Amino acid sequence: MKLIGPFKQIITLAHLPLRGKLSDEQLEVISDGGILVNGDKIQKVGNFENLKSENQNIEIETVEGEQIVLPAFVDSHTHICFGGNRANDFAMRNAGKTYLEIAESGGGIWSSVQHTRNASEDELLKTLLERINILLDLGITTIEVKSGYGLDLENELKMLRIIKTAQAQTRATLVPTCLSAHLKPRDFEGTNVEYLNYILNEILPKVKEENLADRVDIFIEKSAFQPDESKEFLLKTKDLGFHITVHADQFTPGSSRIAVEVGAQSADHLEATVDEDIEFLAQSNTVATALPGASLGLGEKFSPARKLLDAGAILAIASDWNPGSAPMGNLITQASILATYEKLTTAEVLAGLTFRSAFALGLEDRGRLEKDWKADFVTYRTDNFQNILYNQGSLKAETVFIDGVKVK
Ligand code: NIG
Ligand code: FE
Repeated sequence: MKLIGPFKQIITLAHLPLRGKLSDEQLEVISDGGILVNGDKIQKVGNFENLKSENQNIEIETVEGEQIVLPAFVDSHTHICFGGNRANDFAMRNAGKTYLEIAESGGGIWSSVQHTRNASEDELLKTLLERINILLDLGITTIEVKSGYGLDLENELKMLRIIKTAQAQTRATLVPTCLSAHLKPRDFEGTNVEYLNYILNEILPKVKEENLADRVDIFIEKSAFQPDESKEFLLKTKDLGFHITVHADQFTPGSSRIAVEVGAQSADHLEATVDEDIEFLAQSNTVATALPGASLGLGEKFSPARKLLDAGAILAIASDWNPGSAPMGNLITQASILATYEKLTTAEVLAGLTFRSAFALGLEDRGRLEKDWKADFVTYRTDNFQNILYNQGSLKAETVFIDGVKVK
């Protein structure tokens, strides 16, 4: 056992409900606290001096100066395994070009597919690990990573194998997701349904055989896959034993309803979700995930986070870091900005970045500082937790712990 502290404040996020709105008065804040760690789990959180006298002769890892600590963050939606860059898309969008014009002039998802297919495995692994380290520096220790820039058997497996190799080289937890249903690739000769069947018959059995992912994602949108074909696909992936998540309601409403109907772990984006579908999400265990980085990257409106919380939904906040719609990658900046536009309390934002986003990944062992939870936490050199969102991402994490071990 090991005692870490003293901390000026410990924000435990203990006892907060999984769903619905939260006030900051509900936050448990322990002053002059310590964290007792047993192996990779938290044994006890409490007053540092009390823990010290209750546990004599144990190792003490002293925290220098004034620091606060909270559960490490969970980014439940990223596309950080990719080749190339889409700065030109960004510039063209800002110059007024439409999605279609950009795609026609060689940009869009298809251009990232070509760059990813052409990139060497070493290059993809190197840049993936660099992005993981950028997220780790922000205090994000659990990171979902999607495929979806390969879009054929060989290249989807290449991406997922690289994610698996990266897992062996980082202490962060990576959660791989198969997004072969990102778009029907231009070189596939056949209909959408034929491509979805190709995923079901050729790609997913291999993914399963090599244990590369147990989650499947699909982009349901006019420009990608249509509601009916997507629903059928998702039900079949479920029969194959995969968990489901959906890119839903990004530009047109309707697909978050499908996510709920098929029992998806999460419905992500939701910028275009209409009021009745907010109610539908709120009645379900499908986590509603806001992706403010995509709104900022595209200049689109934010997901209706306030309404979702008021209706009682489980709201997570994730980065969607990808080369196209969300190139920034700074989840803390994005969540802070979402809070100002959507009027979210600090408690709601912190919950959405921790135990609620962990739940979206089916992980119920992390995101709170309490007994038997995973000892992943992030510290800041400041005297008050409000400074984290107030500084909109410019207050850097001081240290990051994974399984009770300092990694940054
Ligand atoms: O989550 N919406 C679909 N997929 C991504 C964008 C991917 C890309 O543009 O490369 C998203 O925003
Ligand atoms: Fe995405």
